[in-house]
Amino acid sequence: MATHQPRTRKTRPVPTPLPKAELHLHIEGTLEPELAFTLAERNDITLPHPTIDALRAAYSFTDLQSFLNLYYELMAVLRTEADFTDLAEAYLTRAAAQGVRHAEIFFDPQAHTSRGVSLDTVVNGLGAALDTSLERHGISTHLILCFLRDRPATEALATLHAARPHLHRISTVGLDSAELGHPPEKFTHVFDTARALGLRCVAHAGEEGPASYIWQALNLLKVERVDHGIRCLEDPELTAHLAATQTPLTVCPLSNVRLRAVNTLADHPLPALMDAGLLVTVNSDDPAYFGGYVHDNYEALRHRLGLDETTLRQLARNSFTAAFLDPRRRDELIAQLDAHPTP
Ligand code: HPA
Ligand code: ZN
Repeated sequence: MATHQPRTRKTRPVPTPLPKAELHLHIEGTLEPELAFTLAERNDITLPHPTIDALRAAYSFTDLQSFLNLYYELMAVLRTEADFTDLAEAYLTRAAAQGVRHAEIFFDPQAHTSRGVSLDTVVNGLGAALDTSLERHGISTHLILCFLRDRPATEALATLHAARPHLHRISTVGLDSAELGHPPEKFTHVFDTARALGLRCVAHAGEEGPASYIWQALNLLKVERVDHGIRCLEDPELTAHLAATQTPLTVCPLSNVRLRAVNTLADHPLPALMDAGLLVTVNSDDPAYFGGYVHDNYEALRHRLGLDETTLRQLARNSFTAAFLDPRRRDELIAQLDAHPTP
């Protein structure tokens, strides 16, 4: 009797993720629905969505504000140091599997202090996970304290002063939340103060807001990187300036599609930004909400925008160039990338 051999299925080799840095990642945006329900139960909080599926169904956004509404609402489950540690640990575990070797991580203190959760709780909780990240996950980290631009500048300044006991854990300040109607110029004094305290500066600009907001971030806030920045292409002089100064852009392709800053990934301006000579990096922004972590963004660019391996490697290299890394670690990570086999 003929024996039936099990059919060997031909599968495409899955490329192992390239070593890379992630420079635009909101830790609160890594809150997966499953963890949100676990923390809600732990803290005796009732979420407005009865099940994980019902919650996921709410992830259909029309613009930045529609996302921010859910993003701030779900943060209610984050109450204790352990909650923040678990959140960061879950991100680091996923990030390691996505090839991340260095992560510069945003957090939004005002979104927590405004609900009665202290800055100590937030920073100590995140810090407990970040302190062991290199050892446990091979990921070096920085923390970036973001000010909410739709809140008053006086509140941002008070937040900066409240963070002073934690500055050994924080390298950089950033600016996020609802962009339209909240230009960077509103925060000039806050960023001056942050720089005087030895902090580096980045800001979201040109995601939904106009190119003039990018100029303000550069000239008034004196940022070293622009988060998103995709609307720079509307101003040729700005594009040329960003190219000449090699000011990095932290671009987030899947986020841009989900928040409808671009129509589809095939329409994404990332190739045009690279062609203009800009230092472009690829990042995940709020991966639990936007359908993928950073390697997923690289793979989406490969499959839906047709980027080839050389270009993807260039983007990974750019992530190390644009990172606030000491030169030894940067060289070490670029060497890891160069040694990484091509699929
Ligand atoms: N843009 C602005 N603010 C944010 C974002 C974003 O994509 N994610 C979290 N806060
Ligand atoms: Zn962002």
